[in-house]
Amino acid sequence: MQDTRPILFFDSGMGGLSVLAPTARLLPHASMVYVADSAGFPYGTRSEAEIAARVPALLGRLAERYDPRLIVIACNTASTIALEHVRAALDVPIVGTVPAIKPAAERSRTRVIGVLGTEATVRQPYVDDLARRFAADCTVLRYGSAALVTIAEAMLGGEAPDPAQLRAELDGLFEQPGGDRLDMIVNACTHFPLLEDALADAAPRSVGFVDGGPGIARRVQYLTQGQNWPDQPAPGRAVFTQRSDRTDALAPALIRFGLTEVESL
Ligand code: DGL
Repeated sequence: MQDTRPILFFDSGMGGLSVLAPTARLLPHASMVYVADSAGFPYGTRSEAEIAARVPALLGRLAERYDPRLIVIACNTASTIALEHVRAALDVPIVGTVPAIKPAAERSRTRVIGVLGTEATVRQPYVDDLARRFAADCTVLRYGSAALVTIAEAMLGGEAPDPAQLRAELDGLFEQPGGDRLDMIVNACTHFPLLEDALADAAPRSVGFVDGGPGIARRVQYLTQGQNWPDQPAPGRAVFTQRSDRTDALAPALIRFGLTEVESL
């Protein structure tokens, strides 16, 4: 019998597509359900308490409705705050997305790295812990940007990013003490890899970027090793917790990521 259960990706918005894309490349037979909590978007300016209450409850409903074989929380904000609550509440394997500080520290020559995330993510003790464990000999600068999240969503809706605005956000890192030596930036919000080329062009000088997407794809492949996959996966499905003109304008971008069906929760 074929196992038709999908892999479910969850984010506040469209950022999780930067995690879905490398996973879909490694697992071409997997059926994908992509959920954007458009009713709760954006997460980065919310409180810890709001996210810790909202995300496990929502994922519980989603797990019941879509019966996924595995859930990827494709959102750094939700993962750094609510990963443990979700794992405790659900009986499904959960993969989280947390800032890729380890690979950034491995690649940095100057030993100054920047963590670019949402305001909520960059203040999390989870990030302190990653910095202590994997980048103890680095200066770890942090900057939380709500603007980049909005710019990434608008880009998927067809609006080209304004380089001056990107530069202003990057300056949030480069203009901190030590920023003149920064050589690696962790894209610690899943929206930001979608802007990576534009960010690289807007940066005051050449720096490397790293994010969790490729590592998560390998982790999902490892955790589903030996599982049965359908010969013909079901069409990719995008699910919004609230539909609006804004979410409808994303349809062409969703199709580019293989998500041809759209529905509301
Ligand atoms: N994409 C999300 C993250 O990785 C958050 C964006 C937002 O809703 O603020 O943190």
